[in-house]
Amino acid sequence: MLTIPPFRGLGGLKIMETIKLSIDKAFGFVSEQAVAGYKAQIAEANAALHNGTGKGSDFLGWLNLPTSIDDAFLSDIENTAKILRENCEVVVVIGIGGSYLGAKAVIDALSNSFDWLKTERKSPVVVYAGQNIGEDYLYELQEMLKTRKFGIISISKSGTTTEPALAFRLLKTQLEEQQGKAAAQKLIVAVTDKARGALRTLAVQEGYKTYVIEDNIGGRYSVLTPVGLLPIAVAGFDIRQLIAGAVKMETLCGTETPFEENPAAQYAAVRNELYKSGKKIEILVNFHPKMHFVAEWWKQLYGESEGKDNLGIFPASVDFTSDLHSMGQWIQEGERSIFETVISIKESNNTKIFPNDESNLDGLNFLAGKRVDEVNKMAELGTMIAHIDGGVPNLKIELPKLNEYYLGQLLYFFEKACGISGYVLGVNPFDQPGVEAYKKNMFALLEKPGFEEETKAIKARI
Ligand code: PA5
Repeated sequence: MLTIPPFRGLGGLKIMETIKLSIDKAFGFVSEQAVAGYKAQIAEANAALHNGTGKGSDFLGWLNLPTSIDDAFLSDIENTAKILRENCEVVVVIGIGGSYLGAKAVIDALSNSFDWLKTERKSPVVVYAGQNIGEDYLYELQEMLKTRKFGIISISKSGTTTEPALAFRLLKTQLEEQQGKAAAQKLIVAVTDKARGALRTLAVQEGYKTYVIEDNIGGRYSVLTPVGLLPIAVAGFDIRQLIAGAVKMETLCGTETPFEENPAAQYAAVRNELYKSGKKIEILVNFHPKMHFVAEWWKQLYGESEGKDNLGIFPASVDFTSDLHSMGQWIQEGERSIFETVISIKESNNTKIFPNDESNLDGLNFLAGKRVDEVNKMAELGTMIAHIDGGVPNLKIELPKLNEYYLGQLLYFFEKACGISGYVLGVNPFDQPGVEAYKKNMFALLEKPGFEEETKAIKARI
C-alpha cells in the first residue's frame, strides 16, 4: 500500500484534478467521425497491451508499474537519495537515452532555473554524463568536479553501452582518487540489469548499492523505475506524488474507461488519423522553458517506438515563444505536413505583475497590472489561432500546475498512448533495432575485438 502525503500547497480536492487533452482543434483537418472510427481498433490495441497479446509483449513491465509500487520500495530509494544528498554537492547521473532523459525531464521541469547559482543549497546539483562523447564536455565536467564533493548514479540497463561506460570509468577513477576507494564505494549507485552486463559485474565486485531495471521494461519506458526515481529524489523532489499522478493516469487510461473519456485512446486515435491524412510530423510545443527536456523525453519515447518499418510520425519539438522567432516562420508557412501538440500549464507557480511606468517610453503601459503569465497565455492563444489559420492542426494537453503529481500523470499518459498508438500503426512499439547500426560501425572503426570482419568491410568504404 502506497502512503501519499498531503500535497504541498494544494487542498485535498485539487489532487483529484487531471491533465486535460483537447483534440477539437484538429477537427476541420480530420473529421470527428474519422477519429471516432478508431474506437474498436483502439479498444483492441489497449486490450492487447493488457492481455500481453500484441507485438513486443515481453516489454510491458511499465504498464501496471505505478499501481504495483509500494512504500518499502520508495522508502529504499528515498534512503539512498538521502545518503547522496547529505554527502554530495554534485551528483553526476550517468546514462544515455532512456537511462537519463526521464530524470532530466522531471528535474528540469521542477527546478528553480537559477538554483544552481546558489551557494546555500538544499539539494545537490544534478549534472549528467554519458549522454555524449564530447571531449570538452567531459574535460570541463571533471575540472569542475575537482573542487567538489560528488557522487555518481550510473544507469545502464544493458550495462554495456559505450557512452555511459566511458564516462563511468573516467568519473569512478576521479572519485576514488579524490575521496579514497572506501568512501567512493558509498557514493556510487548502479542501476542496471539484475544479472547481466559489465556494470552489474563491476557493482558486485566493488560492493556498490544497486537497483534493478527489470527485463520487461525498456529504457524509454523506465522513468518510473529507479532509473528516474533515484535522481529525481536526489534532486529533492517528491517521488510519491510523481507515482500518485501516474497511478491516476494508469486508471484513467485503462481498458475500463470509455473511448471518449480515455485521454490515451483519444490521443492515439487523433494522431493516427492526422498521420493518415498526410501530417507526418508532430511538434510538441511548450511555452515554459523548464519543459524543454519533457519534449526531449517525449521525442525518444515516440521516435524509438514508432519510427520503424518505414513508418511513423516524426516527433519534433519547439520552445515558444523563443522558437516563434526562428521556427515560427516554417510552422506558419512551410510544407503543410505538420501538426502541433501544445503542453499548456494552466497556473504558474509564481506571480509577476508587470509594472506601470509614468514615462511609458517603451509603450508597454497597456500591459501594466497584468501578470506575465497572462501575456504568455495570450501568446499561446494567438499562436494557436495563427497556426490553425495557417493549416496546422493543434492538440492541447493542459496541466493544472507544474508539479510532481501532474508530471507523473503526463509521463504515464504519454507512455500509455504510445503503446496504443504503436499498435494502431502496426509496429512493435517496444523494440529499437535501428539504434544498433551506428554502434556496429563505430566499433568496427575503433577496431573493437570481435569486429574484425566489420572493420575490414568499413575500411574498404572510406
Ligand atoms: O530506450 C532505449 O532502450 C534506449 O534509449 C536506451 O535507454 C539507451 O540506448 C541506453 O541503453 P542502456 O540503458 O542499456 O545503457
